[in-house]
Amino acid sequence: MIRLENISKQYDLGGTVVKALKDVTLEIKRGDYAAIMGPSGSGKSTLMHILGILDSATGGRYYLEDYDITALPDREQARIRNRHFGFIFQSFNLFPELSAVENVMLPMSYAGVPFKTRKEKAVQLLHEVGLGHRLTHLPTMLSGGEQQRVAIARALSNDPDLILADEPTGNLPSDKGEEIMKILESLNHRGVTIIMVTHNPEQGKRAGYVIELKDGDLISNAPSLEAKDA
Ligand SMILES: Nc1ncnc2c1ncn2[C@@H]1O[C@H](COP(=O)(O)OP(=O)(O)OP(=O)(O)O)[C@@H](O)[C@H]1O
Ligand SMILES: [Mg+2]
Repeated sequence: MIRLENISKQYDLGGTVVKALKDVTLEIKRGDYAAIMGPSGSGKSTLMHILGILDSATGGRYYLEDYDITALPDREQARIRNRHFGFIFQSFNLFPELSAVENVMLPMSYAGVPFKTRKEKAVQLLHEVGLGHRLTHLPTMLSGGEQQRVAIARALSNDPDLILADEPTGNLPSDKGEEIMKILESLNHRGVTIIMVTHNPEQGKRAGYVIELKDGDLISNAPSLEAKDA
């Protein structure tokens, strides 16, 4: 599904250069459940932004289904993001003035889905993540775990092929985090490809394999022994 070849990302800070990613080559297959792990500052979020086509690499090639993403115009990149990817990023906050259901409807309006269909789908997705009773709540009226589940429902609204989740359970107590993990796992069982950043070794073991980063280098990309279908 995705192939990165010698991807690098440098930040030029007037004089000093930060090499956030160095020569990363990896492949993610359709239906995979990959965990990205590594110490703080090792390049995990940088890699997620590049995988999600939210940021471009300073070197290397990105192939999505054999198409060279690097060469596509911005508009086409945005279309791919909107139609095929779902994001659960901590920095991707919900819109505070929009209700849960309106937040979930938003990506579908960018995709040109008619109002009635958007609304029905958003309500259905919120039910699926256990928030059928919180449809009209504003984000500030929801708990952290509930907000995260709204973000998941929003990420699912355009039936993504790929979900990119950057520490989706990071701010949550463990029981709430477990609910999120279960949702991600059931999506993966339905065939959705998942790439998840986590600091939690237990969560890493539950993924199909771990992509490990250290100081911007790819340390390992081997299927883990605990892979569920190993
Ligand atoms: N916009 C930027 N400008 C300059 N340096 C940056 C920028 N964004 C990230 N970096 C640097 O790139 C490196 C990788 O950052 P990144 O956010 O990918 O780390 P991370 O592995 O996600 O860490 P964490 O676990 O703390 O979230 C860090 O050293 C960071 O300081
Ligand atoms: Mg990060």
